[in-house]
Amino acid sequence: MIRCLLVDITRNHRGQPIRKERVLTAEEISIGRGADCKIHLSDPRANLHCAVIKRIENGKLFIDGEGTLLGIAGAYEHNAHLSSGMRLNIGPYEFVIEKIDGDDELVLSVELVYPLPAGSEGSRKSEPKSLAETGISKRRLAYWLAGCITLVFLILPLVQSLSHSLPSAITHARFTPTQLWDPGSISPGHISFGAQCAKCHEAPFRPVRDKACLSCHTQPGRHLQKPQLDKHVFREMRCTECHREHQHSKPIAMQGDRACILCHANIKKNLSESDLADIHDFGTDHPAFRLSFKTGVTSSDVRRVVQTDISKVVEDSGLSFSHVQHIGLVEVPWDRAIIKDLKCSDCHQPEEGEMRFRPISMKQHCYFCHQDQLEFKLAPEGRKLPHGSVTELSNTLHDYYAGLAFKHRKSIAWVNEQLDKAIQSMSKGYGCDYCHTVQPSKDGGNLLRITPVNITQRWFPFSIFPHAQHQTFNCAECHKVEQSAQSPDVAIPTIRSCKQCHTGVQPERNKVVSNCTSCHTFHMAP
Ligand code: HEC
Ligand code: HEC
Ligand code: HEC
Ligand code: HEC
Ligand code: HEC
Ligand code: HEC
Ligand code: HEC
Ligand code: HEC
Ligand code: HEC
Ligand code: HEC
Repeated sequence: MIRCLLVDITRNHRGQPIRKERVLTAEEISIGRGADCKIHLSDPRANLHCAVIKRIENGKLFIDGEGTLLGIAGAYEHNAHLSSGMRLNIGPYEFVIEKIDGDDELVLSVELVYPLPAGSEGSRKSEPKSLAETGISKRRLAYWLAGCITLVFLILPLVQSLSHSLPSAITHARFTPTQLWDPGSISPGHISFGAQCAKCHEAPFRPVRDKACLSCHTQPGRHLQKPQLDKHVFREMRCTECHREHQHSKPIAMQGDRACILCHANIKKNLSESDLADIHDFGTDHPAFRLSFKTGVTSSDVRRVVQTDISKVVEDSGLSFSHVQHIGLVEVPWDRAIIKDLKCSDCHQPEEGEMRFRPISMKQHCYFCHQDQLEFKLAPEGRKLPHGSVTELSNTLHDYYAGLAFKHRKSIAWVNEQLDKAIQSMSKGYGCDYCHTVQPSKDGGNLLRITPVNITQRWFPFSIFPHAQHQTFNCAECHKVEQSAQSPDVAIPTIRSCKQCHTGVQPERNKVVSNCTSCHTFHMAP
């Protein structure tokens, strides 16, 4: 850093110097006519870039002419070390190094010592030099111009933005009056109504309110919908703090970690009852993940368990299934001669274009091998029972026994007895019991009670995990299903596994740099 006190010297009519001072601090001090130069020389004869003062390795200050010749003590040089008392001529200017104090104080004066000769500046007599000489009335012209400016830049746009009933031909025209106010083109998502400014700017000269955004985006998601969060945290958090408008090519949403760390670096301050850990970066202090076990049909029916709490990481989906028996070469139970080579994709088929898998289906993924479980063993015909609905099953059985009763003149009590027997047999040892947990019917009636099947499909509902972007890796690298001998086993990878390949925002060799929004959305479903 160079700290420089610049003294601009001009002279009054008696030739006495007037010193005007200002302080410059910069890595390098550039001198020239260019607008970007720290020391700006206005004389048209000066080069755009005349010279630059910088610090060289030994810490000393040094001036480099960058092609312009510097007049120093009667000779011309391309560059020089700066020393106290030194005089430098650059074009029509003279610079004096008044003081170099220690290593970082520089006092530098500059004076235009060869001004342009009077009259040389295009002062042709024939042209009028002031408005008065033109003969135009100053006042009338001022009124006219003020009127035009008000009409074009204020009244026309105001009419457009406040009027909700302008013909669409106007609001969709190539050029509309409000474009004169336009602070930049609107983001792609909003382009269809961008010209109707009042959709967001509800009142003139007032900031855009959340309410305007929420009139269309009615579901802002978990963060913004939790009532206790709303009260404690988000009162002041306006949509526009994270969403910029009028920046066309730039993404409308804030990117990276900043928006998240704002609160998550000190979460208790934002929500004192929160049990979340403070998080600054994925690479350093991101907590262990929590699994969300599905316990019912709605999205709020979940049991959240930290993956490090191993004794609680137990799946209870209501379905019996172990992966070890179903990977690789597997016999078909009803004909051991048929052998199938089961791969993950035989049961877990990616949803087209999606990053998830289709739900497991008895019919598609199990029936072929386990169809004998649905065989109705009490009937000589070896009929197949319907799967998936207890009432349908009961109806099928009822119809069957009612048919028999009609044929053999049996009573309704007999039918019920047979039904009970059939159901009993199916809930023990074979049939439904093979894969399901079956409980006796609550009301003593002849219906089975199948424990509801809740196969979890979103283990991490509050993050994004794209299988598609991990296709080059083996399933088994993340899912140790070959160790999964019982259905309560869970084979979802932990944060340790992700950290083999992912790190936070600080780049690390052979690792993918990931920030919060690589893995999370802000507007997650409630
Ligand atoms: C999708 C909503 C939306 C629409 C439509 C929209 N704006 Fe904006 N505009 C914003 C947001 C958000 C800001 C950021 C300033 C803020 O927080 O109030 C903004 C800022 C501005 C600013 C700068 C004011 C400031 O506070 O810095 C001007 C001027 C402006 N808009 C004009 C317009 C005009 C003119 C139109 C119609 C052609 C328009 N806007 C349409 C959302 C919108
Ligand atoms: C008149 C209705 C309307 C209003 C008002 C509105 N939006 Fe939108 N917004 C839309 C539509 C339509 C889309 C495009 C479809 C989509 O992506 O959902 C969209 C898209 C978006 C997107 C996604 C854009 C993208 O490229 O992914 C964001 C972020 C957004 N709006 C934020 C806001 C904010 C912030 C405000 C308030 C300043 C706002 N919107 C006001 C209708 C509206
Ligand atoms: C205004 C403060 C604030 C901001 C900004 C914020 N969060 Fe949160 N976040 C919270 C609070 C408070 C909770 C709820 C804590 C609780 O319920 O214990 C939370 C919860 C979460 C959860 C866990 C879900 C849950 O409800 O248990 C995740 C994941 C999360 N935030 C990620 C993010 C990400 C990613 C960002 C940035 C895009 C972000 N947050 C920005 C305050 C914030
Ligand atoms: C015969 C069909 C079948 C095959 C083959 C199969 N799975 Fe599964 N998988 C299932 C079923 C059924 C469930 C649900 C288990 C439950 O609810 O107990 C499941 C659950 C899972 C789960 C989530 C629950 C857990 O246990 O962690 C993962 C991960 C998984 N399978 C990975 C794999 C991988 C990897 C392979 C290949 C090595 C594979 N599966 C092969 C049927 C299969
Ligand atoms: C390729 C044929 C095949 C497919 C497909 C298949 N299984 Fe199996 N399953 C077997 C074999 C073989 C056994 C080992 C028991 C045996 O040999 O009878 C078995 C055993 C079982 C067991 C009993 C475990 C025990 O030890 O009691 C259950 C429960 C089971 N499978 C459920 C399922 C489910 C659920 C599906 C569908 C997601 C399925 N199976 C798909 C072949 C298959
Ligand atoms: C070979 C294993 C297997 C056998 C045997 C089996 N099921 Fe299932 N069942 C499944 C699987 C896998 C699912 C979940 C996927 C589906 O719905 O297709 C399921 C789902 C169900 C459901 C839906 C549960 C829910 O909560 O959504 C019902 C009801 C059901 N089975 C009833 C039965 C009855 C009754 C029997 C005996 C006649 C039976 N199942 C035999 C594997 C089996
Ligand atoms: C490599 C992916 C990845 C990155 C990067 C990442 N997270 Fe997470 N995060 C996850 C996963 C997966 C979960 C578990 C999601 C769930 O609980 O549903 C999680 C959970 C969370 C939770 C809930 C913790 C709990 O105890 O329930 C919060 C809060 C959170 N992340 C915030 C952040 C913040 C803030 C950042 C940025 C500094 C970040 N995450 C970066 C993958 C990531
Ligand atoms: C880089 C690690 C990784 C690899 C490789 C991977 N998975 Fe996963 N898988 C995960 C994570 C993390 C989840 C939990 C995501 C969630 O549910 O939010 C998951 C969830 C699952 C689930 C349960 C959710 C569902 O949609 O049913 C199945 C099944 C599954 N993976 C199968 C596979 C198969 C099959 C492969 C190989 C083609 C595979 N995975 C490769 C990390 C991985
Ligand atoms: C074997 C290495 C490996 C493992 C293990 C791994 N990832 Fe990845 N992940 C990658 C690579 C490589 C990419 C692609 C990066 C890219 O496209 O820039 C990626 C991409 C992602 C993305 C998309 C990022 C984006 O910006 O689009 C997410 C989210 C993600 N991984 C989450 C996870 C989570 C969560 C885990 C742990 C459960 C995990 N990954 C485990 C290698 C891995
Ligand atoms: C803490 C920062 C933050 C705040 C506050 C915020 N957003 Fe977002 N928003 C994001 C980020 C980051 C994304 C990018 C995708 C994502 O994370 O969901 C986004 C995406 C969106 C999207 C497009 C994706 C989607 O989920 O449909 C809409 C629409 C949106 N925001 C509207 C709003 C509205 C309306 C508000 C005010 C009520 C708001 N946002 C407040 C950070 C924020």
